[in-house]
Amino acid sequence: MTTKTDKNLAYAFAAESKASVRNAAFAQKAESDSFPQIARLFRAVSEAESVHAQRYLRLMRGKIGSTEENLEAAFENEIKANTDEYPSLIKEATEEGAEAALKAFSHSRDVETGHAELYKKAMNAILGDREVEYHVCQVCGYISEESAPERCPICGAVKGKFKRVV
Ligand SMILES: [Fe+2]
Ligand SMILES: [Fe+2]
Repeated sequence: MTTKTDKNLAYAFAAESKASVRNAAFAQKAESDSFPQIARLFRAVSEAESVHAQRYLRLMRGKIGSTEENLEAAFENEIKANTDEYPSLIKEATEEGAEAALKAFSHSRDVETGHAELYKKAMNAILGDREVEYHVCQVCGYISEESAPERCPICGAVKGKFKRVV
């Protein structure tokens, strides 16, 4: 049975997740507007909202499983985004001639395939004991293993746009 609290946890998780991302974006804007201290504040609040969101997620039943289950779920979410979700967003953006949104949705759809492949590798234990660094394109979200490419294969961003994740 779904209780009111179950619903409220899901609501609070979504709201705090959004707030975290929004504050991170505000931090980047403050940074580029030369307000480093304000940027730091936005980053701190973004971090705090993420703490809230993760706390609620842990309290939501069946959302976090074993790492094997989580890899499987993450893989399926990427496939779903690629095949079910983005195509209809792309179709509607095309119909409305919303060029920037169309480009963003298309990049995301293409990038999800790569994310799914990375999870597949992990599930097949191809990663094994190997330590792999990931480099994430800050424009489209493409993930490159080992090193950042000269140009992002999805959006064409230059190497400097990649952020290293260790
Ligand atoms: Fe993804
Ligand atoms: Fe990219």
